[in-house]
Amino acid sequence: MQTIYLDHNATTPVDEAVLEAMLPSYRESFGNPSSAHTQGRAARVCLDLAREQVAALIGAYPGEITFTSGGTESDNLAIAGVARAFKDKGTHIITSRVEHPAVLNTCEELRKEGFTIVYVPVDSYGRIDCAALADMITDDTTLISLQHGNSEVGTLQPIVEIGELARARGVLFHTDAVQTVGKIAVDTRTLPVDMLSLSSHKMYGPKGVGALYIRRGTPPLVPLISGGGQEKKRRGGTENVPGIVGLGKAAEIAQSRLESDQAHVFQLRSGLRQHIESRIPGVRFYGHPEFNLPNTLYLGFDGVEGQTLMIHLDLVGIFVSTGTACSSGSILPSDVLGAMAVPENEMFQTIRISLGRGNRLDEMERVADALEKAVLEIRSKTGLSAEATPK
Ligand SMILES: Cc1ncc(COP(=O)(O)O)c(C=O)c1O
Repeated sequence: MQTIYLDHNATTPVDEAVLEAMLPSYRESFGNPSSAHTQGRAARVCLDLAREQVAALIGAYPGEITFTSGGTESDNLAIAGVARAFKDKGTHIITSRVEHPAVLNTCEELRKEGFTIVYVPVDSYGRIDCAALADMITDDTTLISLQHGNSEVGTLQPIVEIGELARARGVLFHTDAVQTVGKIAVDTRTLPVDMLSLSSHKMYGPKGVGALYIRRGTPPLVPLISGGGQEKKRRGGTENVPGIVGLGKAAEIAQSRLESDQAHVFQLRSGLRQHIESRIPGVRFYGHPEFNLPNTLYLGFDGVEGQTLMIHLDLVGIFVSTGTACSSGSILPSDVLGAMAVPENEMFQTIRISLGRGNRLDEMERVADALEKAVLEIRSKTGLSAEATPK
């Protein structure tokens, strides 16, 4: 059976060229980049190149890139690192309920340490209310952490406005850009962000590696991992050289294909949406209609449980997700949909389709066919006709 992978917001396949680039770091240049001998220096050269490649993708200086074990650690380092470094200045942190658990749970930990965490409201598309944000900033606020793109519904946040508000009030701004880097243009020369998280496995690189961009001049953060002074003392531990090399190569490829990849997935998504709308009644789409990740389609069908639909599709080799990737084993309703005030009965009826560069236009027809068949079948089993659109 020819399978169709439509879960690229959860993770992406490793690009062949990325894998090729990584292998010499296991076989030949396996030295410790902190060693002064030739083997160590060879590994250091690999790290330096990767740092340049990642920096180039986001318009940064190589010295602004700190390698981490992934998006989760980058979020933790930015948020806890700033909070703890500035706790004498203030203990007030602003975030939102549509953030990834890597942000939400870090904030929750900080709350237990005595920090005050406040959540800026979002509209029904999951977009931040900038007027509310402006009112929430106090003299005690040290950090605003708001995502760039939402992993579930794909909504993009107005991070230019957010960053400008933060700057005007002298507050540091961190954005989780794990879902946007490599998918859309992200340029730290024009975005008023102080810190930005990215992850390799969301852009055809290996898992377990990522980076935190920290703008030049940002005061030192308190590290999460103390060790031998690696990464300018921001993150101790011998660097994951093969992984970092893979991230670097993935960043280089993403940069070279950014526009064509973006246009490709956008075209596929439009085609798929048209197929679905013309064939299947009782469909709803979520996320912002304009400010959205080009590859993401978050949708629900009346009377059709998302988990059941996902399983029907899985049986015919089509892989989609329900809820966030990290909690997809659970059947709890999505916090993101809750923050968007989506009615409870709809929350369990959603699936996420996230496209990638390997998907093809002809696959979209097969996906629409499979969706139509599955929706009809599920509705007939639950006693609902195809035309019925119960709430
Ligand atoms: C928005 C966002 N932030 C952070 C993460 C965590 O990244 P990682 O899997 O590299 O730890 C994810 C992964 O799903 C994500 O979508």
